[in-house]
Amino acid sequence: MKALVRLSIGALACWGACVATAADLPEVLLANDGTKITTAEQWRTKRRPELLEQFAKEMYGVSPGKPEKMSFEVFDRDKGALGGKATRIQVAIYPGGKPGPRMDLLLYVPNEAPGPVPVFLGLNFAGNHAIHADPGIRLTESWVDQRQPNADPEKKPGNRATEEMRGKNAKQWPIEEMMSRGYALATMYREDVAPDHEPYFSTGVPTLYPELQQREDNFTTMGAWAWSLSRAMDVLEKEPSIDSKRVALFGFSRLGKAALWAGANDERFAMVISNESGAGGAKLFHRGQGEDIKRLNTLFPHWFARSFSKYIGKDTELPFDQHMVLSLVAPRPLYVASALDDKNSDPEGEFAGAKAAEPVYRLLGAEGLPAETWPPVDTAVQGGIGYHVRSGKHDVQPFDWQQYLAFADKHLKK
Ligand code: GCU
Repeated sequence: MKALVRLSIGALACWGACVATAADLPEVLLANDGTKITTAEQWRTKRRPELLEQFAKEMYGVSPGKPEKMSFEVFDRDKGALGGKATRIQVAIYPGGKPGPRMDLLLYVPNEAPGPVPVFLGLNFAGNHAIHADPGIRLTESWVDQRQPNADPEKKPGNRATEEMRGKNAKQWPIEEMMSRGYALATMYREDVAPDHEPYFSTGVPTLYPELQQREDNFTTMGAWAWSLSRAMDVLEKEPSIDSKRVALFGFSRLGKAALWAGANDERFAMVISNESGAGGAKLFHRGQGEDIKRLNTLFPHWFARSFSKYIGKDTELPFDQHMVLSLVAPRPLYVASALDDKNSDPEGEFAGAKAAEPVYRLLGAEGLPAETWPPVDTAVQGGIGYHVRSGKHDVQPFDWQQYLAFADKHLKK
């Protein structure tokens, strides 16, 4: 039985001119058999597992567990990185054993900070070498898009990393500031994990699991990205300079969708930050605003499971919605950030999604999102759930990181 509760998203999320209409949002605290979820135990043993299963089956696809043959090699450890401020560590992860697909995990760990440090972990768009001009970063051998970030996968790109690409995306990664504030950074390149261009599933991790590709709930690119973050966690757990109990996932846009799905599944992650993850991330489909399921499935058929395509045209009737994915992060701190001009991501719908996750935070004894209406632009609200809508376009900007660092200080430095 799919019970629906009438919820006025308009009332939840409108600030100024209200474009949203009231809609039916499936209730997160009502189990599929109609049981009302009223205790933390019921959430943990009944509702949380059934939601994870439902989202795997209907949307993100199934993922394998930790592969038995996985191995990794630390191939670089340089204490003199960033002018002596950090130790750069690079790890080649072979999820299926060596030889085989390789994912490079790049870490910067502050030299000054005492003891094992908290870390931001996130996938990057353009290659590890693009997040900083540091010449010590290994150039990826995976496919690269010359026009990254935010390239259109339909257009024909060049595909080999070159020296000129170093640091091309550095402004989205304030590494020096993270170091001076006592945080490490860990990142991997999305294309090392799974191809984000045609032919889909042809390289990287998907090739290890051909048997998972034919199913309706196939092992998707989004699933592989999320899964790779758990494999990075497996390595971080073995790195003595990192406190693996304080790993904050971070992701922008499609990689924000992946960060949310990873954080929903893997409770080892202590915090999740969604930077404009939009459709299939933090935005609610039920509002019928911004990018819809049809566009997602048409332009990016590899991101979500084949089974998800049956919901094309049914955004406002889905039996589930993204507030449930956000709820799966509870009670761990969750930050959802929007940008005002990022209409595709329906900024107000991202707020509504975060707000609708609040009942689960409350049930589990955590603080919710301390805002009743969509907060004013450029004003962060930070409880157990944090939120801001920044002025400007779809991007990661210094304002965004200032809020994430403050949120991490609040929750990870207690
Ligand atoms: C496209 C896509 C979005 C996605 C974004 C990105 O715009 O429609 O869903 O978030 O790419 O990853 O940059």
